[in-house]
Amino acid sequence: MKKSGVVIVAAGRGERLKSDIPKAFIQLLGKPLYKYSLEVFLNHPDIDEVVLVVPSEKVGGVPKNRCQVVGGGATRQESVINGLAALSPKCESVLVHDAARPFVTDALIDRLLATLAEGKSGIVAWPVPDTLKRAKGDIILETVDRSHFWAAQTPQAFPVAILKEALQKAKEENFVGTDEASVVERLGLEVCLVLGDARNIKITTQYDLTLAQALLKYFNI
Ligand code: C5P
Repeated sequence: MKKSGVVIVAAGRGERLKSDIPKAFIQLLGKPLYKYSLEVFLNHPDIDEVVLVVPSEKVGGVPKNRCQVVGGGATRQESVINGLAALSPKCESVLVHDAARPFVTDALIDRLLATLAEGKSGIVAWPVPDTLKRAKGDIILETVDRSHFWAAQTPQAFPVAILKEALQKAKEENFVGTDEASVVERLGLEVCLVLGDARNIKITTQYDLTLAQALLKYFNI
């Protein structure tokens, strides 16, 4: 049976939140943000290994219950590389997830594992609902067909060997992507879109934190 692991990246500083505490360690209804997604992956029956990547100074202070905890890098991409290095060679597939997305669900993980089982890489994504304008400054150049545009979410799922190769090549070419799919796309390899969830929001600003609190209370998660 092929094994699957997850790398949860939680080593960002969260500068846009203007907080002294790293973003993933901010309390959300009495629990640090990173724990929400960590618990979902720890409780998923088909995720065999969990690696949590945190700011180096936090490594000692995070409980290592059924997961490995490693220090992150200066960029998200470097944090992913550090996390992948900690996975055992038994893991043939890996999901990469932003700790900044606390509402990941079993259903999203299942869809990605099904994609991997078909031998494909995939990311969860959500169709962009707004009308899209391409602009120069504040002048509209054109209205683009939104049916071609999806907002990328995490988790993103790949065979480990492919993701490692893509990250190595990106490093050699000084390319820093904002997600894993972008580095794999550069290899010319196919990455599938898998339907995400509108609720799978990313906490970036203070408003997102307030929204997350409201969602937690409303949905009783
Ligand atoms: O900054 P941003 O919200 O785009 O970061 C996305 C995710 O990547 C967050 O969960 C953050 O903790 C993580 N990250 C990281 N190491 C960095 C930068 C970001 O693990 N150096």
